[in-house]
Amino acid sequence: MDHTIVDLFARPIIKTKINIDGIIDIFNQVVKSNGKNNITQNSREGLLHYHNDSNVFEIYDELKEFGNELHKTANFVYQNILNHQNTVSITNAWFNECGVGGYQFMHNHCNAVLCGTLYLIADKNTCIDFQSPFGLSETSSTIFDKPSHRQNEFGYYYHSDMTTFNVVQGDCLFWQSYIKHGYPPNKTPNRLSLSFNLMPDKVNSYYRI
Ligand SMILES: [Fe+2]
Repeated sequence: MDHTIVDLFARPIIKTKINIDGIIDIFNQVVKSNGKNNITQNSREGLLHYHNDSNVFEIYDELKEFGNELHKTANFVYQNILNHQNTVSITNAWFNECGVGGYQFMHNHCNAVLCGTLYLIADKNTCIDFQSPFGLSETSSTIFDKPSHRQNEFGYYYHSDMTTFNVVQGDCLFWQSYIKHGYPPNKTPNRLSLSFNLMPDKVNSYYRI
């Protein structure tokens, strides 16, 4: 049957390319050798977080300039793509290291408006899943008739509540903080990424954070 469709309320995942020259060396030679006190480990997931309650750009002088460049990119995303008038600041930034078989469960970041992850070690199998924020209410009763996962005859993806992005080394993804994300059992040896949270410098014309 003939039909037309207008897409409503699309959510962006913004991808930029970042020059990561020297960052893996700094991680291996400086961050990793800084002791185990800075590591959060979820043994069930097989994933290590380095400084995930801090900001590595403030802790390590070697990363300061790199952090400034990432901050500029984040403000381009926030202002020029997402149309905000305020600027954002990086409130925390941390490294994630994951061996083969490790994974990350679906979660979002409540302490941010915008989130990002830069991929430092990735290969053809490296991916991240994003879950649709629509229809996820757990507090209201909704009639829920799940659609089939089979391919749609027109090539549409309206039946899908999950999207998988493949990423390569140097890809930097940004997304709005309420979007849940995670990844299935990892196939990339020594998968390494740097994640960061951003908060607005002002929340309106009165309040400065
Ligand atoms: Fe996350």
